Amino acid sequence: MKQSLINITDKISIAHFTEENITREYLSWLSDTEICKYSRNGLYMYNKAAALKWYEELEFDKTIVYAIYYGKAQLHIGNCAIDQIDWIGNSAEIGFLIGNKKFWGKRIATEVGKKLIEICHKRMGLHKVWLGCARGNIGMQHAARNMGMQFECSLKYEMLVDGMYQDVIRYSIFNPSKEIYKND
Ligand SMILES: CC(C)(COP(=O)(O)OP(=O)(O)OC[C@H]1O[C@@H](n2cnc3c(N)ncnc32)[C@H](O)[C@@H]1OP(=O)(O)O)[C@@H](O)C(=O)NCCC(=O)NCCS
Repeated sequence: MKQSLINITDKISIAHFTEENITREYLSWLSDTEICKYSRNGLYMYNKAAALKWYEELEFDKTIVYAIYYGKAQLHIGNCAIDQIDWIGNSAEIGFLIGNKKFWGKRIATEVGKKLIEICHKRMGLHKVWLGCARGNIGMQHAARNMGMQFECSLKYEMLVDGMYQDVIRYSIFNPSKEIYKND
């Protein structure tokens, strides 16, 4: 059953990811070395059993996964997630996988990311939203800046990309209605 849609633009929408989204095409994204170059997915064999296990083990208080749909036909073109939700520190990570490569560079991550940030800040009341990506993942860094995020720090040689370690670049954005910071 399709979950209730959140419309983002006239073409892009998201809905909670379900087992029905685990199709042959979805599994092909997670075995594609170009798509997985900057994520951990490409590091091991991925199949339906692994995807179902991942889905069953999701902790819904810490991770919300959405499928991204495009157009009237509601084509499933990728996923996005609010992850590592920290209800004590009031922060969360956002992440993206545009699996259908025809849609890269069309501002899908940018538009979806703005909506995830709004959900985190307004609906969930979180004060900080962040993302981390490999230094070589230029597209993700452009999209992060398009979402209004700012460079926060880099973590030295945290991610293995094509057999070499790369820095992880962290971007973040703070909730304008929760400016209660003091560093002492
Ligand atoms: C990274 C990813 C999420 C970006 O999504 P997207 O929908 O293509 O991103 P957007 O179109 O919103 O923004 C990307 C911008 O960077 C640009 N860009 C992409 N790759 C680039 C590159 N190698 N060099 C320069 N610019 C690049 C795009 O043209 C676009 O430009 P704009 O800001 O002028 O519009 C998508 O490519 C993807 O899912 N990749 C595979 C999985 C992945 O790497 N996920 C992130 C893991 S941290």
